[in-house]
Amino acid sequence: MHDTLLLFGATGDLAARQLFPSLLHLLRDRLLPDDFRIVAVARHAYDDAAFRDWLGERLAGEDNGEDVRAELLSRVEYVAVDLSQPEAIAQALAGYAEGRRCVSYLSTPPYLFVPIAQGLKAAGLLEAPSRLVLEKPIGSDLESARAINAALGACLGEDRIFRIDHYLGKAAVQNLLALRFGNTLLEAVWHHRWIESVDILVAETAGVDGRESYYADYGALRDMVQNHVLQLLCLIAMEPPASLDAGVLRDEKLKVLRALRPFDADSVLVDSVRGRYEAGLVDGQPVRGFSLQAVQAREPVETFVALRASIDNWRWAGVPFRLCTGKRLAERVTQVVVTFRPTSHWLFEKPRRERAAPDRLVLRLQPQENVELELMSSLAGSEWGALELQPLPLDLSMPTVQRRIAYERLLLDALNGNSTLFVRSDEVEAAWTWIDSIIAAWREAEAPILPYMAGSWGPAAAANFQPQAAARSQAGTRGRRAP
Ligand code: BG6
Repeated sequence: MHDTLLLFGATGDLAARQLFPSLLHLLRDRLLPDDFRIVAVARHAYDDAAFRDWLGERLAGEDNGEDVRAELLSRVEYVAVDLSQPEAIAQALAGYAEGRRCVSYLSTPPYLFVPIAQGLKAAGLLEAPSRLVLEKPIGSDLESARAINAALGACLGEDRIFRIDHYLGKAAVQNLLALRFGNTLLEAVWHHRWIESVDILVAETAGVDGRESYYADYGALRDMVQNHVLQLLCLIAMEPPASLDAGVLRDEKLKVLRALRPFDADSVLVDSVRGRYEAGLVDGQPVRGFSLQAVQAREPVETFVALRASIDNWRWAGVPFRLCTGKRLAERVTQVVVTFRPTSHWLFEKPRRERAAPDRLVLRLQPQENVELELMSSLAGSEWGALELQPLPLDLSMPTVQRRIAYERLLLDALNGNSTLFVRSDEVEAAWTWIDSIIAAWREAEAPILPYMAGSWGPAAAANFQPQAAARSQAGTRGRRAP
């Protein structure tokens, strides 16, 4: 296991909210090497003591006991350097190349990836067996992603580059693989012959607040679909890999990404909806609408997107994959719903065949994790002749298990050199190829960005893209306008 973590962007939001707390938990559980140390690197002019004070305050709410916190802080050093200057980085960090195995983690915007990697290379910190970890997003389109991948490829081998998609670190997401490939029942029906549609919903109640300038260049499509939603789609749609070996698994995901049908100006008007939230009520609290007034946006961006995607291969021909994600929606929920085709021949009087509820497999990933199978079953009425069925939801929830923060798992894997849950350069580029087709089609078709009230399920025009959410909102969670 590598024992030195160089954390770039150490004063950033992600470091404070996820990375340091994850390291704290790993230290508490004695999962890090005895001589583990962290070199925190950022532009801010702290010294070791001032950075430890800053970090200590941020970790004060963590319920791990003073001792573990103090131990973590004692393992942290701080280096202040301009992250856009390779020579300065090389000079500041050269001393760390001696005799320790290093993982450099870039929790920075993508325009800093190349100068930092060049600085690390000049310092000798990318020589084997050193590794490089990158946060998403890798660029903002295919061209920029290719430029980053090529520049990094000149600094170190692909097998030592670890691109993070934190959804892959979520235990519930890994469980998709277990359910799909560990069960004969699902293996037998996982096919367009038996599956009618697949819905992937990543709904957030949180807004963009505080991240406007990043979001102005990205929007929901680039921020969420390019990575998290497409990774979920890959796990649902990929062919069974021959093994769980990193290369084999990633080869299969790549084939799915390459089989996604590109959008054009005609299809994008039918098969996509863009939205942007306006003021409303979320969890009973009034919230502001999304505004880009404060930042320079290249072009208008969406906070909601719904897509009907097609995967052009033998397994999925004709099966719509409805993908939907948005901020300030009615509920925080990430789920995959697989809807099966009707039975071949219907025997029953009630309900009529057209009104029978389809069988469904509902995989809820967060905030609660559970699996539900919706079947039809007999109402077992006393009257012969009136054989009546009704939907029977089978709750297959697991006993509550303690799940680790996604970043704990990913940090451990990066330190151990296991790249199965990381994204390869060709996957990133294939995902951008498809995303770019949507952006180009939106531009050409002048697709509108429709308003929706914060606390609703998105623009009314998107109701057909999220049947389960629409059903829930009829049950009473429809968005309400702020007073
Ligand atoms: C990040 C996006 O990658 O994922 C955020 O940049 C989003 O906009 C977040 O809020 C969602 O992650 P999670 O784990 O809370 O579902």
